[in-house]
Amino acid sequence: MRTNAMNRFGVRKRALLAGALGVLTAAATLVAPSPATAAENTLGAAAAQSGRYFGTAIASGRLNDSAYTTIASREFNMVTAENEMKIDATEPQRGQFNFSSGDRVYNWAVQNGKRVRGHTLAWHSQQPGWMQSLSGGSLRQAMIDHINGVMAHYKGKIAQWDVVNEAFADGNSGGRRDSNLQRTGNDWIEVAFRTARAADPSAKLCYNDYNIENWSWAKTQGVYAMVRDFKQRGVPIDCVGFQSHFNSGSPYNSNFRTTLQSFAALGVDVAITELDIQGATASTYASVTNDCLAVSRCLGITVWGVRDTDSWRSEQTPLLFDGNGSKKAAYTSVLNALNGTSSPPTGSGETIKGVGSGRCLDVPNAGTADGTQIQLWDCHGGTNQQWTATSAGELRVYGDKCLDAAGTGNGARVQIYSCWGGDNQKWRLNSDGSIVGVQSGLCLDAAGTGNGAQIQLYSCWNGSNQLWSRA
Ligand code: G3I
Repeated sequence: MRTNAMNRFGVRKRALLAGALGVLTAAATLVAPSPATAAENTLGAAAAQSGRYFGTAIASGRLNDSAYTTIASREFNMVTAENEMKIDATEPQRGQFNFSSGDRVYNWAVQNGKRVRGHTLAWHSQQPGWMQSLSGGSLRQAMIDHINGVMAHYKGKIAQWDVVNEAFADGNSGGRRDSNLQRTGNDWIEVAFRTARAADPSAKLCYNDYNIENWSWAKTQGVYAMVRDFKQRGVPIDCVGFQSHFNSGSPYNSNFRTTLQSFAALGVDVAITELDIQGATASTYASVTNDCLAVSRCLGITVWGVRDTDSWRSEQTPLLFDGNGSKKAAYTSVLNALNGTSSPPTGSGETIKGVGSGRCLDVPNAGTADGTQIQLWDCHGGTNQQWTATSAGELRVYGDKCLDAAGTGNGARVQIYSCWGGDNQKWRLNSDGSIVGVQSGLCLDAAGTGNGAQIQLYSCWNGSNQLWSRA
């Protein structure tokens, strides 16, 4: 029986040669258009390839945080003020408008080359105290005056306005939400839209809501019926915003694409306006992105914040950047989808633990560079230890990097490399715990048991350094 030391040192020269050849092979293959090479390397630029945008909510209070603005400025090309253009912010006293915070967000966006979605003009929530206490004709007039006042200030400057927000009830009724605005009469929504069209004919006018992504939900059908009615009667509505706050109580469903297509077929644009996903599952983020891309009238996607720590639901870590500003796996899956290069993983990420070592397959220092050799490290379940077996036989990490054999002989290094579909990136996961490279027929092999032990290919011999458990 050979030892790990023999394994490592007995083939060192050949391993390096094989590794070099493997890298050359991979590089040569990548000369041809590679489906997994990002055509663009920011979300906004990648979305722009199909005429769409990729946006974020911006909070004015964070604009002096340079880590925040660096990411926001680099990645996004559409901005929504998270709170600063809402009713309580813009009209704190009746008839006295205040655009200081809204303008701070607007000016930052425009100075950084971004467009702006306006959010939001008529809503039961975040009303200033004076409006909360109004009713009837007085409230109706206050709503109209508010729409006119805010839209006049931003006239000609806003790509889309969320004219009415969250007017439908949750649950099975499919009807309107009870609110002071609703109690002014069922026509309050169309009055808001007609007022908005007259105030700024250049802005697209959207109805915006949550829990309307699932086609089978009553709330979705209620909003759909309203939009159909508006289109039939000539009420000026241009778009529907799907907030897309997905979580365990309101999970993503693959019929979202049907919903987007169905609304678009009514003759309105659709947009994903406040996306966040509990746990930020990479495959779910990719699915949502692909749903938008599949619908020609889907204008773009906005995520509801930059880093997890900026989120209104920070405990759910639902966004594309972690609190340190690092890109998460979900970021990569969205970018790949926008670049048209994703192949959605079939399973969720799992750790791959060596039977002999008790340590996990790990990308050193969470590196993302092609050619980074895999090692063993104490299992901690971080993103650099999360591997996803795809139906194509790949073992993916970070969404778009594959476990890659840089050669076909004993000692060939095993590394990460951008997924490109080659047989050196395909693996057979055998029931005995061995993992066999499809191209080489050799086994995934740990050249040691300690932290930092390198991973290579080696002839299968059923040793505990070649057996793996996945969890
Ligand atoms: O700024 C004050 C701060 O001075 C004060 O100390 C603190 C005390 O609670 O409150 C701060 O204001 C908070 C504000 O966010 C800014 O952080 C408000 O309390 C809080 O209610 C407000 O929450 C916002 C929420 O809308 C209000 O409904 C969230 O930031 C914002 O992300 C959220 O956004 C909504 C969309 O507009 C509509 N769709 C749902 C989405 C999520 O709830």
